[in-house]
Amino acid sequence: MRQRKAQGHRDMASDPLTPAPPPPGDRGLPVVGEAFALLADPFAFVRERAARHGPVVRSRLMSRDLVVLSGPQTADAFLDEANVRRSGAMPPHVAALFGTGVVNQLDGVAHRARKQHVMRALDGAALAHYLPQIRALLRARMARWHAAGEVALQDETVLATLELVLANFAGLSESDAVCARYAKGFADVAGALFGFPVALPGTALRRAQAFTRELRGRLAAVVAERRRHPTGDGASRLVASEVEGARLTDEDIAKELFHLAAAGGGIWAWCCRGVKALADDPALRDRLTRAVNALEPEASGRALGEVALLDAFVREVKRTGWVFPFTAFGVAARTFTVAGHTVPKGWLVTWSTHASHVVDGVAPYASPGSFDPDRFLPGRGDGGEGRAPHAFAPQGPGSALGTHRCAGVEYSTLVLQVFFTELLRGAHFTLPPQDFRLDGSTLPARYRGSMRVRFE
Ligand code: HEM
Repeated sequence: MRQRKAQGHRDMASDPLTPAPPPPGDRGLPVVGEAFALLADPFAFVRERAARHGPVVRSRLMSRDLVVLSGPQTADAFLDEANVRRSGAMPPHVAALFGTGVVNQLDGVAHRARKQHVMRALDGAALAHYLPQIRALLRARMARWHAAGEVALQDETVLATLELVLANFAGLSESDAVCARYAKGFADVAGALFGFPVALPGTALRRAQAFTRELRGRLAAVVAERRRHPTGDGASRLVASEVEGARLTDEDIAKELFHLAAAGGGIWAWCCRGVKALADDPALRDRLTRAVNALEPEASGRALGEVALLDAFVREVKRTGWVFPFTAFGVAARTFTVAGHTVPKGWLVTWSTHASHVVDGVAPYASPGSFDPDRFLPGRGDGGEGRAPHAFAPQGPGSALGTHRCAGVEYSTLVLQVFFTELLRGAHFTLPPQDFRLDGSTLPARYRGSMRVRFE
């Protein structure tokens, strides 16, 4: 496997006598290709294929050929827009679920301008404004957990993270009943991404379409209100944003806000991953508790970021958690070679954030299957793993403003830092016996036992 990785760097197409071979992998069944395997468990889909075939694997979804790239050695080819374009890559019903024309479907200058706008809701000033609200909401919710004694943390963190993103980005203060309904709507959106493309009655797609109309309408009303009376929320920041003299329309902003809420709502799965890791390793929990207890109660974002073990722990949670298995799909704009394989023009292309961090021989980590935050501590071995370009990219490779890398990297880090700080400063918790296996058929993957947690 290591040998295959080393070979991956060689661009065989540069030698005219040795054309690069097509990627290994399967075309699957006639008509459907490997669509059912992808639908059944997209996390296992990419893991198993990367383990079997390496960092470049072919597949087929219905009539479309697909290549799944993994590992740092394939990231530059994926990020090169001459190779991979986003516009037109998603089927129309999927693009419409995200919001037709939002940032994840644009290329080149149009993408850079839109991304600059979007990042105004997620830059340092915005995060500093959101921090007190994040802390207050999480404290109030955790106090309710402590009072309850035992909670299904999975359901609770779904509500908690939705409450946060709706409050931070749209200034909404929603009840748990409304958040639960929205969570169901977002689950339908996720379920419809790879499902049957026709919105027949009773399908996830039909429900997802109704939900997107409803929530986008709600968000459009927020945007109109923020034009009249701006606050510090994300909507107000997007209303005020100007890039080279251009501003976003109300409709653009409502769509981008919907996208932020959909993506941000997935943070719950990392919260649960971290809780399980802390319960599994009491020594780690003690060290991290001591580290966060040394912080001021209202510590700034910078102070939180300076706790080396907290930073390492959040990185390890992001590396190993099962939120989304790969980036948005692009399409090969030309035939190109990557890690010694030819990808023909017209194929769908994605980069697997999941396989890139956990599959032995593809992920640039020692024992990638074990949970070991210390691997990220400065001074360990070569100065810490995951430091090479694209080695740590659980939210996509590249830079926020220059590529399609996730807009919410710093926001999600901040939420996780506050979540674990407040959790460890609060009541002691244990996990009663339950089924800890993950069900990879949903996005994010869900714990079958719903992650029950007892507080003392
Ligand atoms: C919950 C954990 C999250 C994970 C695992 C995650 C992962 C990703 C991935 C893999 C991409 C695609 C990168 C690509 O296509 O190359 C992405 C894009 C994006 N994410 Fe996240 N994300 C998360 C949270 C968030 C949050 C909290 C926000 C904002 C509130 C956010 C906003 C976005 C946006 C706007 C894009 C599109 C960026 C673009 O196309 O330029 N995500 N994310």
